[in-house]
Amino acid sequence: MESPRGVGAETGAAGTSGPIAPYGGSLVNRVVAADARDALLAEAASLPAIQIPSRILADLYLISVGALSPLEGFMDAANYNSVLDGMTLSNGLPWSIPVVLPASEEEAGAFQAGERVALVAPDGEVAAIIDVTEIYDRDLSRESRQVYRTEDEAHPGVAAIRELGPRYVAGPVQYLYGSDISGFPKDNLTPAQTRDAFDEAGWRTVVAFQTRNPIHRAHEYLQKCALEMVEGLLVHPLVGDTKSDDIPADIRMECYETILDLYYPHDRVLLSVLPAAMRYAGPREAIFHAIIRRNYGCTHFIVGRDHAGVGDYYGTYDAQEIFDEVDAALLGITPLKFEHAFWCKRTGQMASNKTTPSSPEERVFLSGTKVRDMLAAGERPPEEFTRPEVADVLMKAYRNTD
Ligand code: ADX
Repeated sequence: MESPRGVGAETGAAGTSGPIAPYGGSLVNRVVAADARDALLAEAASLPAIQIPSRILADLYLISVGALSPLEGFMDAANYNSVLDGMTLSNGLPWSIPVVLPASEEEAGAFQAGERVALVAPDGEVAAIIDVTEIYDRDLSRESRQVYRTEDEAHPGVAAIRELGPRYVAGPVQYLYGSDISGFPKDNLTPAQTRDAFDEAGWRTVVAFQTRNPIHRAHEYLQKCALEMVEGLLVHPLVGDTKSDDIPADIRMECYETILDLYYPHDRVLLSVLPAAMRYAGPREAIFHAIIRRNYGCTHFIVGRDHAGVGDYYGTYDAQEIFDEVDAALLGITPLKFEHAFWCKRTGQMASNKTTPSSPEERVFLSGTKVRDMLAAGERPPEEFTRPEVADVLMKAYRNTD
């Protein structure tokens, strides 16, 4: 891993394209070349194995294509503890979410540090080989408190990690699985590919938009405000594991294609998916989301109200305030922070406290939950909340799931 010193928003790092250097200086690539694959798969057949669930497969993929640069594998205890307690990697680079490989007692008992171990995907295929450098015990309660700010099992992120094995296995990986794990192969650009696309478009500044929802009017407002300031927009929906009541990714993709086609300038927007699992870790996940988008070549990152939040676990602007706790120069990517946006009847447009003097009765706030309830009841979400063509896609999808 490189020293964090000198790592910033400098352009033109060796061997990389795009308007901003990858995090840590260069883009990691752990994908095994086609001509080496068969030999490694043959080797994997005789190695001890760890079964990995889809959320760990997602992290493995992200490491391998460089989305989690400078990580070349799963974290060791020094990095894990440093991330939990100091929100940095052990080399001082800001990092907010542990990227760890869990194993059961039984699996971890079958090998030692120094050995090579096969990682087996949920479909039974070998996904990677890891060179094990360390095996250690996780601290579930500290991890929950530090990352999620709660130990409540009702928190979906906490619930998800509780299901994983108690031992963590560290080491660099060699990726052997398919080139797409998202289910959207044509829309799953790697960091190298988005960087090339930004170069080709000539964008020197690019803002990323993270979402796990259809794009509603408030999202559109944030993106359009940002587009007034930067040259390009990467609409980067997360399509990995989400909680069961979130709108499925395939329906969302249809919504994104529809709204981008009708309401966005085609030459200033790129749509691509992020096949990561959602943690619902609010503030900590906002930093993580920003780091990932830097690796995809973005210079700016939108953080609105309750980013990556769930329930009442986080304050409305906690995910913005946490950026004050990290070294901005090292982080390199700039957060664009937005107030809670709503439809304002007085001004006849989207607005926030910063831009309208209207009274509370003149403001239309609609939550994703409320809209899902409306859709389930066969009601059309109003135009103040969603573009009608997006409402059409959602209503059709909900009718089909009855
Ligand atoms: S998230 O879990 O991916 O953050 P969501 O898809 O709802 O959830 O939000 C995407 C981005 O838009 C986040 O940065 C979030 O903070 C922001 N956002 C969502 N709704 C609003 C709103 N009404 N006003 C301001 N920001 C919002």
